[in-house]
Parts: sequence; structure tokens; C-alpha cells
Amino acid sequence: MVSSEWGTIVARCRRRPPGLDDLPADALTEGKRALVRVDFNVPLERGEGGTPPRVADDLRLRAALPTVERITQAGAKAVLMSHLGRPGGTPAPALSLRPVAKRFEELLGRPVHFCEETTGEEPEAVIEQLTGGSVVLLENTRFAPGEKSNDDDFAEALAALGDVFVGDAFGAAHRAHASTVGAARAMQRAGRPAAMGRLVERELEALGRLVEEPESPFVAVLGGAKVSDKLGVIERLLGVADRLLIGGAMSYTFMQAQGRPAGDSPVEDDRVADAERLLSEAGDRLLLPSDHLAAEGLDEGADYRPVEGSIPAGQMGVDIGPQTATRYQEAIRRAQTVAWNGPMGVVEQARFAEGTRAVAEAVKEATDDGAYTVAGGGDSAAALSEMGFADAVRHLSTGGGAMLQDR
Ligand code: 3PG
Repeated sequence: MVSSEWGTIVARCRRRPPGLDDLPADALTEGKRALVRVDFNVPLERGEGGTPPRVADDLRLRAALPTVERITQAGAKAVLMSHLGRPGGTPAPALSLRPVAKRFEELLGRPVHFCEETTGEEPEAVIEQLTGGSVVLLENTRFAPGEKSNDDDFAEALAALGDVFVGDAFGAAHRAHASTVGAARAMQRAGRPAAMGRLVERELEALGRLVEEPESPFVAVLGGAKVSDKLGVIERLLGVADRLLIGGAMSYTFMQAQGRPAGDSPVEDDRVADAERLLSEAGDRLLLPSDHLAAEGLDEGADYRPVEGSIPAGQMGVDIGPQTATRYQEAIRRAQTVAWNGPMGVVEQARFAEGTRAVAEAVKEATDDGAYTVAGGGDSAAALSEMGFADAVRHLSTGGGAMLQDR
């Protein structure tokens, strides 16, 4: 659950941890092993007819390149580790990082040596025999039960694979797991240095601009599934943003709080009281959809149409409606600062992606007019790329939950 403190985020952005260039001079020299936590948790497209799965969106892989290049050009070996999906502490072949290694190799233009094991003799031997400047990717850290519990032994076994720790998994920075936190601490206990990578550095700088005296009007757009995930950030945004536009499934919990029926739309009953409180605190700064696209279901043939006000029983909201899209576009076009996290509807289906597309268009116009614009969240980032709006924002964050949290 989100526990963002806007002031704490500002403090974190100001308290800059050491970067790669602050490491001791010999930390990345020939043959040294840099253990790098990256966030390669990317969507995979399942292969058909026996073809192997492939990476569907490589934003996070491209974002890791500057760190890997910096390390390997200095002569060190880059030992990359990441989670993929939520396998629950046990090996799951469908969540192997092997296809990710293949795509990263294409992007890097050099071999990426994949290790079937995450810790132990196999990766130790592979890393040992490689020359300086090589790149290794370990198997999914979440195949091990000790990853999510931040188990000391697992963290030590990871730390044994490096001489220096580099934290570059911005998208997983809000997870206190063995590979994000435990291994870094184990390294430091052993007197070995640690630093943040280029991506974390870039993200902190870009997001820092949002929280430190953002230029007004500041419009925040929040979508996605759950009020519970974004409660803290909504509260804090209300302290700094001039307008907060709500879309996506979480708007139905707000509808319920206003006493407007939401039909069969997903409502978080245990958050209705919070939504009520936020509505009364925010006044007219919090904008909610006044119309929706309502569907009889999510099946391909299911009927759908725009509805105003409430959503009838037997139907569910699947996107913001056309009037809301226009209203939101007007607010965004007037903004000097825009922060966007989460889609406006069920973007996986093109017919329910129009609200998100309308927001993307307005954000692009604001960017072209000189506004400082940032978008984040796996779904919004993927939707932007898919709709051809990857360049619509000044900064496309690789963080979803991490963009919104302060720890
Ligand atoms: C993300 O995609 O948000 C990060 O990789 C974290 O993944 P998680 O929510 O499964 O911990």
C-alpha cells in the first residue's frame, strides 16, 4: 500500500545517493564484478506454435543500457539480476528471464550470458571464466523463496557474485527484497561499495522536478485499478497540484462515494469512506468522469455505449466517456506541469482505449507547448508506446508503483 509523503519524496530527491561516477577509482576496473539490480520485469508475448516467448515492450531494457555500458566500458563485468512477474518463490518456466536476455543482447549488440541459476556454483563459474566487459543475466530472483522475504542467506549468496553493488531497478525501488535491499546491505557489511545506476539517477532528477516547486498550473492525471494503491499519493498531490483528474477503474469507487450507482463496475467497498473524505477535502480540484463508456462485459462481442451520470445495473464502466475526455483534455492543455500515472480505461482492448488516447494527445500538445510532462506506470507507458505517443512526454518513467512511493 502506498504511503507517500510528498515532502519525503522531495527530501529523497535532494538527498542524492552516490552514483557510478562517485565510486572509488578502482571499483569498476578490469575484471571487477558489478552486481547490478535492474528491473527487467517486462511484458512477454507468449509464442505460438512452439515459438519462444518474446519481449512485448522493451522500455525497461533500453533504460538499463547506459549503466551497463558505463560499467563494461570501464572494464568490469556486469552481473545483472532482476525479477519477472510473481512466480511465488518457485521456478516457473513461463517466467524465465531467458527471452529477456535475448532481447537485451539485441539491444546491447553484444553477447549476454544467461545463467539458469540465480546463485551458487553455476553463476560463479560463468562469471569467473568471462573476460572484463562481459555481461551476465541471472535467472529470475523470484524463483527463490528468499527473495521476497529478504532472507539473509539468499541476500549473502547474491552479494557473493559481486565486488560492487549497483542499484538501478527504479521500477522495483519500492520493494524491500533480497536483491534490491538485502544484497546491497550484505555488500556494505563486507566493506564493498554500492551506488545507484544511471537510470535511478535520471528518474530521481526527472521526478524531482515534479515535486520541487512545479510550475503552475500543475495537473495530475491518475488512472488504473485501485484507490487503495494511490490513496497516499492522491492526498499528497492535493497539496501540490492545481487539478487532479481521476479515470480508470478507481473512479467507480469515487462514484459510489458520491452516491452515484456504478452498475457492475469494480468498486473497492472498503475504500468508499476514504474516497468520500478525499472528495470533501479536494472540492473542485478533484475532477471525476461525468460520463463513461459502459459495456455489458469484456467479451469481444459485448455491447457498449456512452452513458452519462451513473452506470446502469448489468453494465460496467470500461473507459471515460467522450465529454469527460474533452474536459480532461482542456485541463491538460492549460497545464505547465503534468504528471500522469495509469490508463483511463481497459486499454488492452482498442475500443476501450479512446479516453487514454485523448489524454495522451492532450499531454503531447502540452509538451509541444513547453509544459514539463512526466508519465509512468507500466500500463500507461506501454499504452503510450503502442499508440505512437512514446515521445509525447518529457520523461517516460520506468516506474509504476515506484513513481508514486517514497520508499
Ligand atoms: C513493477 O513492474 O511495478 C515492478 O517491477 C515491481 O513489480 P511487483 O509489483 O511485482 O513487485
